[in-house]
Amino acid sequence: MKVLVNDEIIERNEAKVDIEDRGYQFGDGVYEVVNIYEGIPFTLNEHIARLYRSASEIGIKLSEQPAQLCNRLLELIKCNNMTNGGLYLQISRGVTNRTHQYEQTLTPQLVAYPLPYKSVQDAQAKGVEAITAEDMRWLRCDIKSLNLLYNILVKQKASEAGAFESILIRDGIVTEGSSSNIFIVKEGVLKTHPANNLILNGITRTKLLEIMDVNSWEYKLEPFQKEELMEADEVFLTSTTSEVMPIIKIDSVTFSGAQPGPFTRKFQTAFSEAVKAETKTTTEKA
Ligand code: PDD
Repeated sequence: MKVLVNDEIIERNEAKVDIEDRGYQFGDGVYEVVNIYEGIPFTLNEHIARLYRSASEIGIKLSEQPAQLCNRLLELIKCNNMTNGGLYLQISRGVTNRTHQYEQTLTPQLVAYPLPYKSVQDAQAKGVEAITAEDMRWLRCDIKSLNLLYNILVKQKASEAGAFESILIRDGIVTEGSSSNIFIVKEGVLKTHPANNLILNGITRTKLLEIMDVNSWEYKLEPFQKEELMEADEVFLTSTTSEVMPIIKIDSVTFSGAQPGPFTRKFQTAFSEAVKAETKTTTEKA
């Protein structure tokens, strides 16, 4: 496997990280996960725009233009002959003596590499289970920071309970999943938490809302309580790796007869059509 380290594409076993990298010591950096369909990175520009926004929000200045970075990522995909799978990329603030405060002159460190294809088709067809957990993260969840300690702890809790995801609740309100955005459907109307500091504004979420707009399907960007979640007709999550994933059980409550509901199915189909359309247009342009 070939990986990108700063401006070099090298073999995975030649890649080295400095022990004084602040990403390693403090989780001081930002990241993205991009899905690749038939060799095409889906919504790459949107992911890179969010990466630059996250970096800027924590004061990491990137000298390279987003388009240049995109080109190097495309080269990495080509070098690895990737068809389906993902791309992980992270940028840390840089390497320096370990102190909490930092100099403004550090050189950000970039690492990017392929993630193997993992099929989610079976889970998408059957739906998955989730548990609820308290949202105890910091208040800048809009930044896709390397610091995922609380997210991994609640994901592990879900996994140990035989569930796929932990749905996070802050002050009684459903914010998002440990690594996904959460949607409910009640009487045909979709609802999800507005994009503010309490959630990561998912690229999949944004894409789905664009699809909703194009089709004039009704939705509300409104915070909702845990009780509303538990009384919903349908619940699903979105993320790069899961796309549109039905949730059929939360804690001990089942939804739409423990099967993916009709609205969720409709959104799944519309989303995969959008993926097909975008990857087809990109191939034609190439
Ligand atoms: N997670 N919320 C959180 C906290 C996330 O970590 C993610 C993505 C999302 C969904 O965002 P998107 O649709 O852009 O993937 C929402 C990635 C996939 C991860 O950490 O692996």
